Amino acid sequence: MTEADIAVIGGSGFYSFLEDAEERHVPTPYGDPSGPVALGTVAGRRVAFLPRHGAHHAFPPHRINYRANAWALRSLGVRQVLAPCAVGSLTPDLGPGTVVVPDQLVDRTHGRAATFVETGACHVPFADPYCPRVSDAVLQASPDATRGGTMVVVEGPRFSTRAESQHYAAQGWSLVNMTGHPEAVLAREMQQCYAAVALVTDLDAGLESGSGVSQDEVFALFAANLERLRGMLADAIATLPDPDGCTCATWADGIELTYEVP
Ligand code: ADE
Repeated sequence: MTEADIAVIGGSGFYSFLEDAEERHVPTPYGDPSGPVALGTVAGRRVAFLPRHGAHHAFPPHRINYRANAWALRSLGVRQVLAPCAVGSLTPDLGPGTVVVPDQLVDRTHGRAATFVETGACHVPFADPYCPRVSDAVLQASPDATRGGTMVVVEGPRFSTRAESQHYAAQGWSLVNMTGHPEAVLAREMQQCYAAVALVTDLDAGLESGSGVSQDEVFALFAANLERLRGMLADAIATLPDPDGCTCATWADGIELTYEVP
């Protein structure tokens, strides 16, 4: 039974979204998700909310059980995922407070369980990691959001050195984050539409003089923009298109998946 069509996966500082939500514990073959999934209604749509770091930020980026989170949401029926996250900016054009809907990512993580595929030939297409239809819906609902850009996802939990940060910027990448991968690819493997909604919380080390990024800066900026971000997500949810026929799901047509999509 479909309990929710749409999910919001909350990031650092974003631990609740739904009013009068019902909480659901969803065990998975991959272990427990970051916490109970909250189920509620936004703009007449059934929505699931899961804070990726856990309700009290128990899980740092490299310890999140991304597979359990993705599997749990899909098992509730979710086919479209909005993924707000905190990001550092690698360009002065994107200052703190800017909301960006990136269109590319670069994976610089290591050692994370990044696939459901354990056997056989099963290669998910990922040239365009984000759903264009859901991304468009977010951008149309939020005219002050910035379209496109490349988010490099680093392993963390430390912030980047100045040289690393300058290297990323020199590649033409615009944002840096610690959770965007494998979350995006696991959603694709679960045949879900997935869009990142990135809130710039800081200028990364390569752009700043002084000691670089601090955790306090990231959380304070996120807190100051949380209500705005919640509003943007609610507006986007109200206008999300029908997921039927989107390539985020149809890529698997004719392919024998070697893992279960619940
Ligand atoms: N999340 C928020 N700001 C970040 C930064 N500068 N680097 C990596 N992840 C971040």
